[in-house]
Amino acid sequence: MDHFDLKDGVLHAEDVPLAAIADAVGTPAYVYSTATIERHVRVFRDALAALADPWIAFAVKANPNAAVLATLARAGLGADVVSGGELRRALAAGVPAAKIVFSGVGKTAEEMALALDAGIGQFNVESLEELRTLSAVAAARGGKAPIAFRINPNVDAGTHSKISTGRADDKFGIAYDRASAAYAEAAALPGLAIRGVAVHIGSQLTDLAPSRAAFERIGRLIQRLRAEGHAIATADLGGGLGVPYNPAVPVPPDPASYGAMVAEVTAGWDVRLIFEPGRVIVGNAGVLIARVVRVKEGVEYPFVVVDAGMNDLMRPSLYDAWHTVRAAAPSGARFTANIVGPICETGDTFARGREMERVAEGDLVAFMTAGAYGATMAGTYNSRGLVPEIMVSGNNWAVVRDRQPIEALLAADRLPPWMEDEPA
Ligand code: LLP
Repeated sequence: MDHFDLKDGVLHAEDVPLAAIADAVGTPAYVYSTATIERHVRVFRDALAALADPWIAFAVKANPNAAVLATLARAGLGADVVSGGELRRALAAGVPAAKIVFSGVGKTAEEMALALDAGIGQFNVESLEELRTLSAVAAARGGKAPIAFRINPNVDAGTHSKISTGRADDKFGIAYDRASAAYAEAAALPGLAIRGVAVHIGSQLTDLAPSRAAFERIGRLIQRLRAEGHAIATADLGGGLGVPYNPAVPVPPDPASYGAMVAEVTAGWDVRLIFEPGRVIVGNAGVLIARVVRVKEGVEYPFVVVDAGMNDLMRPSLYDAWHTVRAAAPSGARFTANIVGPICETGDTFARGREMERVAEGDLVAFMTAGAYGATMAGTYNSRGLVPEIMVSGNNWAVVRDRQPIEALLAADRLPPWMEDEPA
């Protein structure tokens, strides 16, 4: 459920008409709803109420905006980070270091040092090569890095191939069968303190069965590792729970069913469970608003050309993802159209043959469910500056990231010295 509803016939974010925001800051722009974010935190927490003291670490990659992170930090969430940049953002937003988990296959020695100096709660190590570097970096600082191995359980999550992470040949984690040897090496290295195990099989999961299968394997592994003498205190079950995008497909399992499955599978594990939800917390809490530049005649369907492009919202182009497009002031009429951006690529298509509310030149539209992996994946392709982000709370709203002016792009480039004094 979200707080983007029609009131007096026009689309609002909570109590603010989207048109008022568009008039003030222009388009495209991302708009987030505080009440929706807070609601999703509550729903996710309630779903895990049967578990002892779960550690919920928001996957910062889903939405690293400072206002979003501060909202989540104030709600008590930790953070799952995958870079030094995300770590800095989480700390700056007020997430206590002890609640931060560091994931990712490519942590550099510099990023490890930053995280060790901050005193983060856990490193999820993805390879023996990484393990050795981490031990050396920690030992050189006279400390021990708290670690879990990310286990690749060889389970197909059944989601889009590009966001599936738990198949044997995916780049993530260490093979299940090599775990014993890996933990033995970790126990022998000077700069490490073994804390637990971790797993994450993919994103936008719409079926609980693969997660259940992966967690069951992790449960067996915990027993084995304990029998081998390791103290396993945490089990990080990752993120991945899907959200509804397309009303025509069955809704993904809700957090309550996910929580019930987890409680059942993990009963008796005697660990602190860690969760890394991203999309399920912020997905429905954001929309991308855009203006219809023109409606161009097409062969089969008209092209609704909007001023947002694939650089602003990459998901349709990258994953053929569905985002419902709503008119901010629907007339009641409907039509079927292709929705495209201004970028010079055919891939800059948000939807083909989409049955939707009829819109015309100058109308405002909203791409729904754009709060996760929206602004954070944006780029400046076609020399388009990053779009602003707006946070709404009740009838208040504020710009929480400025639009990037073209001057900022121009200023970041410079000529090499040998070209400087020549006339162009
Ligand atoms: N933990 C780890 C280790 C992850 O790699 C991810 C997502 C998450 C947690 C959070 O997953 P979530 O709960 O948000 O599903 N750009 C893609 C999604 C990529 C997800 C990458 N990893 C998209 O737009 O669909």
